[in-house]
Amino acid sequence: MFTSNKWTLTPIWVMTVMFICVSALVSAAAESEHTPTYNIGRPASQAEIHAWNIDIAPNGEGLPSGQGTVIEGATVYTNICASCHGLTGIEGPMPILIGGRDTLTTNQPLKTVGSYWPYATTLYDYIYRAMPLNAPQSLSPQQVYAVVAWILFRNGIIEESTILNAQTLPAVHMPNQKGFVRDTRPDVSRMVP
Ligand code: HEC
Repeated sequence: MFTSNKWTLTPIWVMTVMFICVSALVSAAAESEHTPTYNIGRPASQAEIHAWNIDIAPNGEGLPSGQGTVIEGATVYTNICASCHGLTGIEGPMPILIGGRDTLTTNQPLKTVGSYWPYATTLYDYIYRAMPLNAPQSLSPQQVYAVVAWILFRNGIIEESTILNAQTLPAVHMPNQKGFVRDTRPDVSRMVP
């Protein structure tokens, strides 16, 4: 004869138990949002946040105050950069920083920060963030503005008399600025503001 056990795991039971578990998890997560602390760690200080927040946007947002000239930049370059990038920026052994204009459409494109990079402000971001390779983030704003000015001048992009600061650097027009196309893949374009 057919007997039935009332504790048999019918789908409705399984679903009920799952529902209870998920609700418990969700409410625990919601509660933890309102629980301020477990006495672990401490809030980051303004100085710590400031030290991490070093990105410079293409439009110059994030640039510090200070300024630098081409002449000052020559000194910074000779003392701190030339050992790796060469005396005039073309000898290497590390990446060539000067030249390459009008080579991008040839069979031997020479991509330098002058011939290839679309925004001058990215030079500030990159040099402060990553250079010199053996002591990144050791340069003062004045040293970075100055060495950026020297690199842009040597690339024929700014005049020797240009003084770079948070206002003048974003206004520098890079030769290859229009050489980039938007990535049209739907998931990528959603991320572009
Ligand atoms: C110890 C060697 C070393 C020193 C010193 C150094 N660099 Fe570099 N630099 C490199 C290397 C290696 C790279 C390539 C890094 C990479 O591609 O990840 C690089 C890349 C760069 C780039 C990007 C080049 C490109 O086209 O992508 C710039 C700009 C740059 N350095 C500027 C400077 C400046 C300015 C200084 C001096 C303040 C400096 N570097 C000092 C080794 C050095």
